[in-house]
Amino acid sequence: MPNERPSTLRKFPEVHQPTMLTPLLDPVLTHFIENRAAQLLELLAQYGSPLNLVWPHAFKTNVTALQAVLNQYNVKHSIFYGAKANKSQCLLDAAAQLGIGIDVSSVHELDAARRAGMPGAHLCATGPAKTTAFHRALVEAGSLICVDSPEEFAHLNRLVRSLPAPVRTRVLLRYRPRSCPTSRFGMGTNELLECLQQLSQERENFHLEGFHFHLGGYGYESRAQAFREVTAFVEAAREMNLAPTMIDIGGGLPIRYVESQAYDSFLQNENKPSHYYNHSVPDSYYPYGGYLTASQWLALFLEADYSPGQSIANYLHSSNITLSLEPGRSLVDQAAISVFRVTRTKKLADNKTVIFVEGSSFSACETWFSSEYLVDPILISHASSPPTPTQAYIAGHSCLDDDVITYRLINFATLPQAGDLLIYANTAGYQMDLLENQFHRHPLPRRLMATCCSQDHFVFSPDC
Ligand SMILES: Cc1ncc(COP(=O)(O)O)c(C=O)c1O
Repeated sequence: MPNERPSTLRKFPEVHQPTMLTPLLDPVLTHFIENRAAQLLELLAQYGSPLNLVWPHAFKTNVTALQAVLNQYNVKHSIFYGAKANKSQCLLDAAAQLGIGIDVSSVHELDAARRAGMPGAHLCATGPAKTTAFHRALVEAGSLICVDSPEEFAHLNRLVRSLPAPVRTRVLLRYRPRSCPTSRFGMGTNELLECLQQLSQERENFHLEGFHFHLGGYGYESRAQAFREVTAFVEAAREMNLAPTMIDIGGGLPIRYVESQAYDSFLQNENKPSHYYNHSVPDSYYPYGGYLTASQWLALFLEADYSPGQSIANYLHSSNITLSLEPGRSLVDQAAISVFRVTRTKKLADNKTVIFVEGSSFSACETWFSSEYLVDPILISHASSPPTPTQAYIAGHSCLDDDVITYRLINFATLPQAGDLLIYANTAGYQMDLLENQFHRHPLPRRLMATCCSQDHFVFSPDC
């Protein structure tokens, strides 16, 4: 029952920060967690567990930081927030208030962005499998469409020709960088040139704005290489009297979740099979303790060589090209925490301890990708007896064996009790609501928008 108030609450709660993979926290959130644990308990009692608290101020800070770098290098730019990273409406509202664009991947994300007040012309649509309804909505809204293939172009062309009134549709062509030759996304040289030829014959129906690519991984070097490759098509298009003005380098700007040195030391010294309940160290993780912030990454990208003696920033100036970015994860850095209430702890046959939480690993989902969230939870504890340091892994409340939030054995300063809270920091980027569902008919976790009215006054309202 979401509104049940645990009877085990005994005294004023204590906040236990983890000592190993300690989450980096925005100062506003640190203040809230350190001083408002009782308010947090009230919120869980009212809205149920898990509960996602969303902090739009962090989104604004992240956008401003990237804009500062782009302005420092004096490059023409546009930022499209990759709305797939998180389902919160208040983050779309924040994007609209800041006047940036939104990268939408479905007609539903488009509708949500429009509800936030985002002008259609500020939307950009990526994704290879857009439906007719999505294409139509994009064309009608005057949005930018990333064409993924000649097949998609043919589909779009038929749709545009079938419209009662002519609309000049704005397109980017998605390039498949040489580093990912077998990717199903984007086009190789021949297909791109084929699309350019067609666009040169369809000027009344289409306006080619430029080129797009998006790469997996988080390196700026791979983007710089893809950028150098894609500029050949800018030249080819200009020779066909098309007028591209944009190169869109997608997302993949990094977040730092924990201190880099602590992270390296963890990977080197602590990350052993014996530290996992299932005795299995995952093959890969997000680089949780990376050495670059998103702003540093962007500066390095702009300074990377375009050609000997000429940086990418120089190329953008001299070629009159706008640099577009579609950051998802990095714009929601620090923009949410996910709070789980502990249901019970249990000693297992092998003498290890499992902590059950109310909620499931669908709301903190790395284990479903055969990986782990290498950020330790903060414990809000009511324990009144002397602390009992414990190692435990954490499981969701469902009957699925794989419903495990972390197989990693986490060190707790004291054994969590029923009614205690575990706070996962920095969950806005693909963690909190990517896989969420109503398994066991448990209601979808609620999202509350946090407003910081003064240093000590936080107001939470439903995010809708
Ligand atoms: C085309 C495209 N753009 C942008 C993004 C956002 O990437 P990130 O959240 O890593 O910044 C993605 C993520 O999958 C994507 O597919």
